[in-house]
Amino acid sequence: MKILVTGGAGYIGSHAVEILKNSGHDVTVLDDCSTGHVDSLPPTVRFVQGSLLDSDMVSRALKGCEAVMHFAGKSLVGESVEKPDLYRKVNVDGTKVLLEQMNVLGIKKIVFSSSAATYGEPESSPISETAQCAPTNPYGETKLAIERELASAALTQQMAAVSLRYFNVAGALQTDRGWLAERHDPETHLIPNALRATSDSPLRIFGRDWDTEDGTCVRDYVHIIDLIDAHMRALQYLTPSEHHVFNIGSGTGYSVAQVVASVSRVKGSTLPTVDAPRRAGDPAVLVANIDKAEMLLNWRPVRNLNQMVEDTFKAS
Ligand SMILES: NC(=O)c1ccc[n+]([C@@H]2O[C@H](COP(=O)([O-])OP(=O)(O)OC[C@H]3O[C@@H](n4cnc5c(N)ncnc54)[C@H](O)[C@@H]3O)[C@@H](O)[C@H]2O)c1
Repeated sequence: MKILVTGGAGYIGSHAVEILKNSGHDVTVLDDCSTGHVDSLPPTVRFVQGSLLDSDMVSRALKGCEAVMHFAGKSLVGESVEKPDLYRKVNVDGTKVLLEQMNVLGIKKIVFSSSAATYGEPESSPISETAQCAPTNPYGETKLAIERELASAALTQQMAAVSLRYFNVAGALQTDRGWLAERHDPETHLIPNALRATSDSPLRIFGRDWDTEDGTCVRDYVHIIDLIDAHMRALQYLTPSEHHVFNIGSGTGYSVAQVVASVSRVKGSTLPTVDAPRRAGDPAVLVANIDKAEMLLNWRPVRNLNQMVEDTFKAS
C-alpha cells in the first residue's frame, strides 16, 4: 500500500517508516523537521520537507497515497501550557489541513497518534476507552479535538479513521543502518532520562509516599515495536465512515522504582536518584485497559520493561 507518514522523521514516525518499508509498503514522509531528524529516514524513502500547515506541501506529499499514518505534531505537555496557541495551530489546524487535502484527493484511510493525555486524571485504573475524557493540559485538549475532527470526517467524508491513545512509548529498533534512537530535546520521558542520570545529575523521584506497592508512581509503558504493530493492525481494521479509538499500552503498570531497578540492572550499577516532592496533577497510577485492542485488533504487546530499557540503552 502507498502510505503517507506525517512526522516520519520523529521518534515514533521513523520506526513506523522502517517497519512499513520492511513490510513492503511504499512510504512517503511529510515532516518539517522541527523536532525530527532526516538522518533517521532510510535513503530510499520519498521525503517531502514541509509543514502540515502548508496545504500545497500536504497535497504534494499525499499524491498517489492510499492511507495516512499521522504522527506529526507538537507533544510536550509543559510547552503546551506555555504556548497553547502553537499547539492548537500545529496539532488541530494542521490536522484539518491534512483532512481537507485528503478529501480533495479522495484518500479515506487514516491512523492517528492520540494520547492517554486525553483522559486527564483518571477516576479509576486501568482506564478503558469509555472513561470520561477531561484533559488537564492544552496538549491533551488538542489530541481530543483531533479525535473529534476525525469522528466528524468519518461522517462527512466517509473517512475510515482510527485513533490510538498511546500511553508511554519506549524502546528502539535496530536497522541495517544502526539503531533508531529516541532523540527528543528536551527529553521528558522517564526511561531515556533514567539512562542518562549520573551522580552529578541524579534522577528525581517525585514522591515515595503514593498509594502504590512500593510508594512510587505507576505508569504503563509500551515498546515502540509493539506500538507500530498496533498501527499495522489498525490499518487493516479501518472501516469506511467509522472512527474507532483504542488504548495502546501494556495493560500492566510499572512503578518508577521498577524502572530504576531495570535501568540499574542494564547499566550494571546502581542508578543515582534523589527524592523530590510530588508534582501537582500526577495521578498515583495510570494504566491502560487494552481489552478492546486485544479483542478487535487481535493485538497484544509482547515486549516487557527490561526489553524497553535494554533497547533504549543500546540505541543511546
Ligand atoms: N512519545 C510518546 O511517548 C507519545 C505518547 C503519546 C502520544 N504520542 C504522539 O505520537 C506522535 C509522535 O511522537 P514522537 O515522540 O515521535 O514525537 P517527535 O517530536 O519525535 O515526532 C513528531 C514529528 O512531527 C514533526 N512535525 C512537528 N510539527 C510538524 C508540522 N507542522 N508539519 C510537519 N511535521 C511536523 C516533527 O519534526 C517530528 O519529526 C505525536 O503526535 C505525539 O503526540 C507520543
